[in-house]
Amino acid sequence: MKYFSVILATAIIFSSCNNSETEKKETPATTTGKVAITEKPFGTFNGEAVTEYTLTNAAGMQVSILNYGGTVTKIITKDKEGKDGDVILGYDSLSGYLQKGNPYFGCLVGRYGNRIAKGHFTLNGTTYTLAQNNNGQSLHGGIKGYDKVMWKAAKQAGDSSLKLTYLSKDGEEGYPGNLDITVVYTLTADNGLKIDYTATTDKATPINLTNHCYFNLSAGKDSTILAHEMMLKADKFTEVDTVLIPTGKLPDVNGGPMDFRTPKAIGKDIAAVKGGYDHNWVINRQGNSLELIGSLYHPASGRYMEVFTTEPGVQFYSGNFLDGTLTNTKAGKKYVLHAGLCLETQHFPDGPNQPLFPNTILKPGETYRHTSVYKFSVK
Ligand code: BGC
Repeated sequence: MKYFSVILATAIIFSSCNNSETEKKETPATTTGKVAITEKPFGTFNGEAVTEYTLTNAAGMQVSILNYGGTVTKIITKDKEGKDGDVILGYDSLSGYLQKGNPYFGCLVGRYGNRIAKGHFTLNGTTYTLAQNNNGQSLHGGIKGYDKVMWKAAKQAGDSSLKLTYLSKDGEEGYPGNLDITVVYTLTADNGLKIDYTATTDKATPINLTNHCYFNLSAGKDSTILAHEMMLKADKFTEVDTVLIPTGKLPDVNGGPMDFRTPKAIGKDIAAVKGGYDHNWVINRQGNSLELIGSLYHPASGRYMEVFTTEPGVQFYSGNFLDGTLTNTKAGKKYVLHAGLCLETQHFPDGPNQPLFPNTILKPGETYRHTSVYKFSVK
């Protein structure tokens, strides 16, 4: 059965100054049972209007997304008592997302998620130099990655998908080729946030797109994710050096702190991992299609999240650089060490410099495809 909502434009806000906050007038809340996409103004960035789109499914789950950075600002799901809560970290206003040091809350990441060593790689005999923004390495696409650009947004028929597009120009942050990118966020009837990424290029280029939501399934109740139980279907991980660049070795998890093959509380072994978890796990894949690769469970709320992907790896990052100093956070919350965690489905870090890692080069005539789903339920 299909529902079509009436979208009401409620506010036209004129603002002359860049990056300003605007008065927030929201379209009326959707009634549970109605599939809908609503919009509200969320400030301006470089003179362009930023809009927050909210997708609601028939079960009442909601996902909000900005056209700035393709950023997921809210994921509202029910706990085991049926109470709604927002399960990702974020800010109440655009100025939060624009602050220096925003650690990529909720955004799309590219052209290459995670690090490329020294911001260099060689392709077809040419050495490319990328913008270096992390200890001399290039992280998450460089200084102005896809998290810091405006995407074009279009609501899709059926009111459960939002399509975002971005043309990343040849030479942007040092990457070769005009890369035409489409990301479709879909809120499924069974409470999944599905993200479909496609891209084409006119020159061979590395590509590794992902999303950077920080989950905390307690929805604001627990200050850290240490009590969450996580499972990752992975026998191996990519070992890294002191600046988090892969050494090329793929050690076995072997019952140690990196072993999440059976669900384990994140806090159990974290002290044994210097700096906390910030590694790429090598997924035990059955094939190339969408597969369940991991899960996250918060026993007190009963919230359970399953992660599905077509990608070969997942970066589990336990929020090691959060230190309580971010401003404009949701309801003024202090995001302390390990306040949230990321499960970034991806190709392996530094892929373009690692001949034994799965291919990350997209050539003209080919289409890059990646699908991931974060599916919510209770148990
Ligand atoms: C990386 C971390 C980095 C963080 C930025 C993660 O994806 O693995 O090393 O600090 O993003 O917030």
